[in-house]
Amino acid sequence: MEKQPLAETAVNQIEKVFGKYPGYRRAHARGDVYEGIFSANGSASDFTIAPHFQHGEVKALVRFSHSSPDPTWTDIMSPVKGMAVQFRLPEGAVANIVGVNSPIFMAKTPEVFTEMLTIIKSFKNGKPRVLDLAQLVAKYPESRAAIDILGKMHAPASFATGRYHAIHAFYFIDAQENKRPIKYEWEPEAGVETLSLTGAVSLSIEYYKADLEDRLVRGPVAFQLNVVFGEEEDPTDDPTQEWPAERKKLTIGRLMITGKAENAESTIFDPTAVTEGIECSEDRILNFRKDAYSVSYDRRTNGM
Ligand code: HEM
Repeated sequence: MEKQPLAETAVNQIEKVFGKYPGYRRAHARGDVYEGIFSANGSASDFTIAPHFQHGEVKALVRFSHSSPDPTWTDIMSPVKGMAVQFRLPEGAVANIVGVNSPIFMAKTPEVFTEMLTIIKSFKNGKPRVLDLAQLVAKYPESRAAIDILGKMHAPASFATGRYHAIHAFYFIDAQENKRPIKYEWEPEAGVETLSLTGAVSLSIEYYKADLEDRLVRGPVAFQLNVVFGEEEDPTDDPTQEWPAERKKLTIGRLMITGKAENAESTIFDPTAVTEGIECSEDRILNFRKDAYSVSYDRRTNGM
């Protein structure tokens, strides 16, 4: 299928702001892929027929990443970390959940996201200029909540201690074809722990990778998968808005990360890859990401 032309424009704009690094993802450039097992506890079966959410186990790939498109940024310059999970289903099928340690995103539409990258032209020590941010918030008031979160954000102390949100709404479809809006979050079994700023100053590049691999020598690193159920008034098309904290939450399974995956760095984690029993919501950012990731994948796997 033809890609949306705006996807090329958005990726070009990322390259313009952050630079071009052949072979790397155009966002979340630096990261590593691990393997694990996801065990569904069966509690989602009443809500979705998705095969990997019925009681049982499937293999999974997990990529932890630092959000910057520039792979030379140190770990601490990117307080936003990514956790991309790919469930490996029979006959080569996959389903993905791609999350970050923030519950919301700064743009509601692909057009606004792309335009934001023309306002924020440069970063110093991982931070945009205050003046650029002020201009952004004035023009797009809906981005204020995400910018406030980013401003106050401390990085997780370890990839293993972040809470990762897929941000967008999806729908669960049950056996009677009932459709319910949900959001995903990964809750670390090691507990949520953030980095103190004093500790952060002395961190070496690849500290997070070394920390995770140290933990894996001692045993699996685990996360619970929670789904949050939306109610009628909760927006399903707006990644700049959180749903109320009191929404019903259900733990539907557990991911155990066991070790490094070989030859897996080129894997594409398309957030719109779902199976029967799951549908993408109307969120335009979610649906745009499919094409933007594909543009980045084509470039990075063609030596560009
Ligand atoms: C218009 C909005 C967005 C654009 C244009 C965009 C762009 C990109 C691109 C080009 C990549 C590299 C893909 C690849 O080469 O495989 C990427 C990776 C990633 N993005 Fe986004 N992104 C957007 C929104 C988001 C949102 C809302 C989230 C939050 C969940 C997110 C989280 C991630 C993560 C975790 C990765 C790394 C995936 C991996 O490890 O392979 N992005 N993004």
